[in-house]
Amino acid sequence: MKVFYKKKSLKNRLEAIRKKHLKIGLVLTMGALHSGHYSLIERAIIESEVVVVTIFVNPTQFNDREDFKKYPHDIEKDLMELRSLLRKEDMVFIPDNKEMYPEPDLLVFDFGHLDKIMEGSHRPGHFNGVAQIVSKFLNIIKPDLAYFGEKDLQQLVIIRKLVEMTNMRVQIVGCPIIREPDGLAMSSRNQLLSVEERKEAVKVYQALSQAFNLADKIPVETLKKNTIGFINNSSILTVEYFEIVNGENLLPIKKWIKNKHVFACIAVKAGNVRLIDNIRLINKQYT
Ligand code: PAF
Repeated sequence: MKVFYKKKSLKNRLEAIRKKHLKIGLVLTMGALHSGHYSLIERAIIESEVVVVTIFVNPTQFNDREDFKKYPHDIEKDLMELRSLLRKEDMVFIPDNKEMYPEPDLLVFDFGHLDKIMEGSHRPGHFNGVAQIVSKFLNIIKPDLAYFGEKDLQQLVIIRKLVEMTNMRVQIVGCPIIREPDGLAMSSRNQLLSVEERKEAVKVYQALSQAFNLADKIPVETLKKNTIGFINNSSILTVEYFEIVNGENLLPIKKWIKNKHVFACIAVKAGNVRLIDNIRLINKQYT
């Protein structure tokens, strides 16, 4: 694999690759790589002839300065892992802030209701920052395929919308959530959890699994109340939101419907660490 720090040299290399009509796959990350990221990269390796992995902690998507400052990073470890995973032709792009934001980005996006609910309402400006950096990377790299985790379901829906709104040619590929053995969804933020918080964090997946089992057996509102109650019962966890939505358009579900895109989405604070997760509420009778 080859490591690039500058847009210009990366673009030159990509141009040569495009002339050979090789399929380019992109995995965007903020570093502190884990099995969730590796699963995206492995899929990209299978489906694309050249893979580009970016590592950039994007300041504009952090509405909380402290959260940005404490976001985990270990570039040396990331590069070591990537070296064992990526092929000779693959690339890693590690720009600095000046490279990505030579000037403040004034682009303002409006995704309608998509960025006003759930993460959007708890992290004002977050999706604008995500859209700014994702559109920059997509414009620089111009991949054929770009891979995103379904853990950030709302982000995935918004990026699909961004691509549709701006007529970009890239195909957005959603990839399944990867979990720890006890069910906790993999996240770079998990390493910020204390031992106690980590132990309690398993309740997030337990709550989603209960929601899966109870979907369409009790009313939506009762399910929501029970799930929130289950988590808030813990002295360490607090629910920020728990919503049942259509995973394609993020519209809330008020009554159970026969639709395989029904998702339960949750955000929980464990001490100062925010955990988000979701589960598809497919019931046997829906499939
Ligand atoms: O999901 C993430 O890690 C980030 O939001 C992304 C897509 C890399 C943009 O900074």
